[in-house]
Amino acid sequence: MKLKSLLLLLGACPWTSSEPTVASLTLSLQRLESVREIKNVQKHFAQLAQYGRWAEMASLFSDNGILRWGSINDPLSDSVATTVTGPQAIEKWLRQDAGKMDGIQPGSLHVLINDQPMISLSDDGTTAKGRWFAMKLLGDGAGATRIEGGIFENQYIKENKNWQISLLRYYPIYHGNYQDGYKNAGPNNSVPIIPYHFTPETAGLSLLAPDNATLPNNSAPFSPSELEYRISRLNEEDEVRNLVHTMGYLVDRRLWPSVISLFTPNGTITVQGNHSSPPGPLGIQSVLSRMGPENLSPGILNEHPIFGTIISLSPDLKSATARGLEIGLIGNHSAKAGQWQFCTFRHTLVKSPLTGTWKIQNLNYTRLIFADYATGWGNGGIFPPSNSTPTPPPFFSLSPPPLRPANWTPFFPVNPSLPRSSAYDESESVSSAYGNYADDILCGSFALLHAKKGFKLSPGIGWYLSPEKISLACSLRYYNSSSPFYDPTLTPTRLRSSVPLHWRIQPVILASQDGKSVTLRTKLLQTGSSRVAGSSGWNGGMYHDQLVLEENRRKIWCLTIDEFYWTSKNWTSGWAAVEPMSQNDTVKNVVKRQGNEIRGLQPDVDLLHPKLFEREEGFNGGPGKTVSWPAIQRMWWPYRHLVTGNVSEDYWGPGCVPCRGAKPDWLLTANGYQEPPTGPTEVKARLTENGKVEVTVVGGPEEKASGGIVQLRIDMEAGEAGLLSSGVVGSDGSVTLTVTPENLSQPKSSLAVYYLGNNQLKPGRTNLGTKKV
Ligand SMILES: *[C@@H]1O[C@H](CO)[C@@H](O)[C@H](O)[C@H]1NC(C)=O
Ligand SMILES: *[C@@H]1O[C@H](CO)[C@@H](O)[C@H](O)[C@H]1NC(C)=O
Ligand SMILES: *[C@@H]1O[C@H](CO)[C@@H](O)[C@H](O)[C@H]1NC(C)=O
Ligand SMILES: *[C@@H]1O[C@H](CO)[C@@H](O)[C@H](O)[C@H]1NC(C)=O
Ligand SMILES: *[C@@H]1O[C@H](CO)[C@@H](O)[C@H](O)[C@H]1NC(C)=O
Ligand SMILES: *[C@@H]1O[C@H](CO)[C@@H](O)[C@H](O)[C@H]1NC(C)=O
Ligand SMILES: *[C@@H]1O[C@H](CO)[C@@H](O)[C@H](O)[C@H]1NC(C)=O
Ligand SMILES: *[C@@H]1O[C@H](CO)[C@@H](O)[C@H](O)[C@H]1NC(C)=O
Ligand SMILES: *[C@@H]1O[C@H](CO)[C@@H](O)[C@H](O)[C@H]1NC(C)=O
Ligand SMILES: *[C@@H]1O[C@H](CO)[C@@H](O)[C@H](O)[C@H]1NC(C)=O
Ligand SMILES: *[C@@H]1O[C@H](CO)[C@@H](O)[C@H](O)[C@H]1NC(C)=O
Ligand SMILES: *[C@@H]1O[C@H](CO)[C@@H](O)[C@H](O)[C@H]1NC(C)=O
Repeated sequence: MKLKSLLLLLGACPWTSSEPTVASLTLSLQRLESVREIKNVQKHFAQLAQYGRWAEMASLFSDNGILRWGSINDPLSDSVATTVTGPQAIEKWLRQDAGKMDGIQPGSLHVLINDQPMISLSDDGTTAKGRWFAMKLLGDGAGATRIEGGIFENQYIKENKNWQISLLRYYPIYHGNYQDGYKNAGPNNSVPIIPYHFTPETAGLSLLAPDNATLPNNSAPFSPSELEYRISRLNEEDEVRNLVHTMGYLVDRRLWPSVISLFTPNGTITVQGNHSSPPGPLGIQSVLSRMGPENLSPGILNEHPIFGTIISLSPDLKSATARGLEIGLIGNHSAKAGQWQFCTFRHTLVKSPLTGTWKIQNLNYTRLIFADYATGWGNGGIFPPSNSTPTPPPFFSLSPPPLRPANWTPFFPVNPSLPRSSAYDESESVSSAYGNYADDILCGSFALLHAKKGFKLSPGIGWYLSPEKISLACSLRYYNSSSPFYDPTLTPTRLRSSVPLHWRIQPVILASQDGKSVTLRTKLLQTGSSRVAGSSGWNGGMYHDQLVLEENRRKIWCLTIDEFYWTSKNWTSGWAAVEPMSQNDTVKNVVKRQGNEIRGLQPDVDLLHPKLFEREEGFNGGPGKTVSWPAIQRMWWPYRHLVTGNVSEDYWGPGCVPCRGAKPDWLLTANGYQEPPTGPTEVKARLTENGKVEVTVVGGPEEKASGGIVQLRIDMEAGEAGLLSSGVVGSDGSVTLTVTPENLSQPKSSLAVYYLGNNQLKPGRTNLGTKKV
């Protein structure tokens, strides 16, 4: 093994010029695996809660683990909180707290959501802190309901081999029941700022160890081949999660052909206890059609936020299972009817042996409860018939990753990348931190999450460049102050009368080839709270962001908000009973934002900038008539179809929203960063009559394959001896390889053409025996 070159490619710390060692790579890998294991423990905790598995939930705590559940009378006080210690006592408390709303009794519901993780690992890697939003939606099947929402500020410890919860600290923000809705917890119905375990400075710290880092004395480094396997595993996990979350976005908009293209040719959809599709596109189409026809018509809501996705990969990294929670928020405005659909899922996916692209084999849903919005979930809902105990789809075991199987070979002849996967988790942390600071309107803090040349959209107005201006625009709007970084809210005792919760969930994160930059899309789900029960309803939108690594910290480069896709008048009347807004009202809103609220602070790019073309049409403050729910706002896509590579009419990429056209000098590539790939790389290969191999490599529009290496190989098992020919892709995206006649006497189907990627595009693959891809 050529150790040096392998290490360089595997994980060179992108922020130093030195070279990693097996020790520093092992350390970095362990840190990243730890962060993912901690997230899985907390997500597993929620998955068990949905089926009342109190003993297993309690077993996720360390021996001296503490559960501390804050009081609605005084959320911050430890002494008023309920405190229980040790797994046995915790199990008992969980059971008692649930009562009959345990998810076990027929018709009961015990949905625990925890998401938007912000995990900070200690320097020595043996403890961690994690902030999550939390929400419980409970019902006993006999009419009683309970709603709780707040923040977890938890602690974790690695004892023996596994990560465990050492402190589960719940801070309530709101509480109530279904019929009345929820209102603020806290003294006088007002909400305090929940203390943060991180700062804007620590939120984006790189997870990678410096190249000169050494391992603790009692631990041995992984071998380079073990590192190669484990890093591949992390890279594959990222791809699988992106695909599952993307499926959700396509379903939201009922883009049926695009959903079907995510499946294998014999893929299926199963709804436990209700129906299972025949294999293949027609069967999938028949199940999807039950949700309604293709595309959303005005007044139709088909929102399916996905929470807490855990990915489990098979040891050969060729198949994967994804388990989590999906909540259908369904509405028909003309009928003034809405529905809740709570489902757990356990989907399976496979890696295409031809192209290496992941595809869905089976979407597998298990219903918890479906309920009409008007009556709610308290009486067991309309499905399932409430006489049977729900059967959970199998839970995952949280064992540490397996060792490299003896017969495992990498899929591509290029090394996997640790910086790309750490970029995934670092970006999720910063994304979560932003959501939290936005909830608390901590202008200075969220401004400091941005890069020095970062820019953020102030809704209804435009983008402001630099943390100073971002903070100022926010302060002028919310604080009536003209000093940047002025933050009255930093006083921890400050009580607020309402909280505009910004849940940033269901991330799709596309990392650049060097891992220094990413494109991030998250769903925005607002579940805010105020003093009056039932007066805050749920709203939805979408973020389109990019992040970069700057001085060893992940920072926001671009932040763009597309809001709102849909709104609720309030909790009581829900999303199906919104009065259409008159154009006069939206014009008034915009004038208010642009005039009074920011008091003349000009954005660097106005939403009316002509070179944004149609991108901001219909959004508040953008050109043209404002499109507000129940009208259907356009859903833009910053990336291509993850299986076919196709671009839709609503594609806006590569490059951030204002960078394309309006501000080319804000492009990542104009600032020393790589533009992340927007989708898969297609490789087409053809044998010519005179015995040459013509290869064409295709990315998306404006994505060039040139400069990347193409190799003709006998499949990867043959190792280096299987390399038959190679060449460099030219500016037209193609290259012709010369091969000896002897080499071509191999069975064509065993000859593969690999594209190794360049500074933008990912690797791609096809078989020479394949006629047309
Ligand atoms: C709650 O409101 C009452 C009456 O307005 C006031 O006297 C009291 O100080 C308030 N308590 C807190 C903690 O703000
Ligand atoms: C690693 O190098 C940095 C400077 O590049 C130095 O500050 C640090 O002490 C070194 N750490 C170790 C463990 O040698
Ligand atoms: C690790 O070993 C080195 C050299 O033997 C020693 O100087 C150091 O104190 C040891 N560190 C720990 C934490 O045991
Ligand atoms: C789907 O097709 C693949 C390839 O032909 C086959 O290996 C697999 O067993 C099939 N799966 C199912 C569930 O039918
Ligand atoms: C499947 O669910 C639908 C409601 O979504 C219901 O109308 C139908 O009866 C169910 N079918 C079976 C076989 O339970
Ligand atoms: C929505 O409700 C209206 C009025 O009840 C009905 O005519 C229409 O078919 C419904 N649309 C869908 C897509 O269910
Ligand atoms: C769907 O999941 C259930 C377990 O919840 C399992 O028994 C079933 O085989 C799965 N269906 C498919 C097609 O994988
Ligand atoms: C906010 O600032 C403006 C201008 O500085 C001032 O006129 C106004 O009185 C202030 N409002 C409040 C509520 O402090
Ligand atoms: C919610 O909106 C409806 C319709 O406008 C109104 O009748 C009701 O009072 C509102 N409820 C709350 C709690 O604000
Ligand atoms: C909207 O504004 C126009 C002109 O300012 C006015 O004529 C019209 O009556 C307004 N419509 C409503 C519904 O207020
Ligand atoms: C991809 O786009 C092309 C051109 O718009 C279209 O002909 C083709 O059907 C699409 N492929 C898939 C799988 O959607
Ligand atoms: C490919 O051709 C070269 C030159 O003729 C030969 O040395 C090599 O063994 C061939 N490799 C295979 C796998 O056929």
